Amino acid sequence: MDKIIIQGGRRLEGEIENSGAKNAALPVIAASLLTKGWNSFANIPNLVDIRTIKTLLGSFGVVFAQEGSTLRVNAGDIVSCLAAYDLVRTMRASVLVLGPLVARMGEARVSLPGGCAIGARPVNLHIRALQDMGAEVELQDGYVVAKARRLKGAEIYFDMVTVTGTENIMMAATLAEGTTILKNAAREPEVVNLADILIGMGARIAGVGTDVVRIDGVPSLHPVEGVVIADRIEAGTFMIAAGIVGGDVRIRGCHPGHHDALIAKLRDAGLKIETGEDFVRAVGRGRPRSVDVKTLAYPGFPTDLQAQFMSLMTVAGGLSVITETIFENRFMHVSELMRMGADIVVQGGSAIVKGTPALQGAPVMATDLRASASLILAGLAAEGITELSRVYHLDRGYERIEEKFARLGAAIERVKA
Ligand code: UD1
Repeated sequence: MDKIIIQGGRRLEGEIENSGAKNAALPVIAASLLTKGWNSFANIPNLVDIRTIKTLLGSFGVVFAQEGSTLRVNAGDIVSCLAAYDLVRTMRASVLVLGPLVARMGEARVSLPGGCAIGARPVNLHIRALQDMGAEVELQDGYVVAKARRLKGAEIYFDMVTVTGTENIMMAATLAEGTTILKNAAREPEVVNLADILIGMGARIAGVGTDVVRIDGVPSLHPVEGVVIADRIEAGTFMIAAGIVGGDVRIRGCHPGHHDALIAKLRDAGLKIETGEDFVRAVGRGRPRSVDVKTLAYPGFPTDLQAQFMSLMTVAGGLSVITETIFENRFMHVSELMRMGADIVVQGGSAIVKGTPALQGAPVMATDLRASASLILAGLAAEGITELSRVYHLDRGYERIEEKFARLGAAIERVKA
């Protein structure tokens, strides 16, 4: 298995190009199941998770053509509605095929994703919403089996804000009979991106970006040409990197308006942040200040940047309380950061981080995607060499992260096993 080796302590300076968002690309690719004919999506990142969803849709009979970062998808002939355990267990977001398959084909058999490193993460809200829309749903041998001749519009209240739940049911509702109202819907930019692309396919959706979304069902949708938004988690990771090593990093091709929560916290931590129409420049100025952070649904502070922000706080000049409210078990990076000299105590859903002047490089192991990124950041700041193993987590969601950091001046390389 590949490893990433980092010699810490180098200042980062320069510009990187923000890649397309994994969490926008996945639902958008799933949405092509709602149409017959060639869809075309620009700005698709080259990631393991994207290959996984292509393999999954390929198993239904969907065909693809890749032209650079543009992916063309044709779901004209669907020959199977079975999302097998082997694929779903490697990527929870596979559940995004459930809504579109039931809406288009009248049935779907999708494996339950099972356990996941960052918590139980059930899909009960997805299932409940489909039942509210008239689907018959059963659990059989670890699979969700959903059937509906035609889904019916319904008023759906989400008990918790769920991103893929909102996306799944929004897709299902586009082809339902009548009007669906989603209450307490997710407002993430990736949900808005999906809705814009569905509207391009002929869907009738209003209220996107608010917590009440109205979908008026139509009999059919047509293929579309769409563009995937920039990855705000990748951009945020590089902004935080500028703070942890005292660098000057410009991220091109991003949407500064998606970063309000992070930018506010980075400014509180002492970074200078400059924004333009499509760029953010982050400048670290000496040792960061400690600030408290609580993860929340968008537009709150993203849980997918919690681990990276914690790395920043490990070298800050004071005490920081980082509270995770979205997932119950998302502090697995803590023990690895402590192996690098970080001073962290976890109490319930909060981590109390006492900044130390310097971290030390160490062999560390990634436990999930964002935890891996936090260990890279720590390694960039640490004295000595950090060796990160289980790099496959990183490859699920960051496009050539080591090349991007190397371009900024980091001493970082991937060692092939
Ligand atoms: C998405 C993102 C992920 C991000 C997360 C929160 C994608 C592909 N993934 O994941 O990167 O960390 O949003 O911003 O977009 N829940 C239930 N029942 C359900 C659904 C969710 O209890 O049926 C709970 C979850 O366990 C969790 C919370 O709701 O505690 C939020 O989860 P959700 O927004 O659904 O996360 P994902 O959509 O899986």
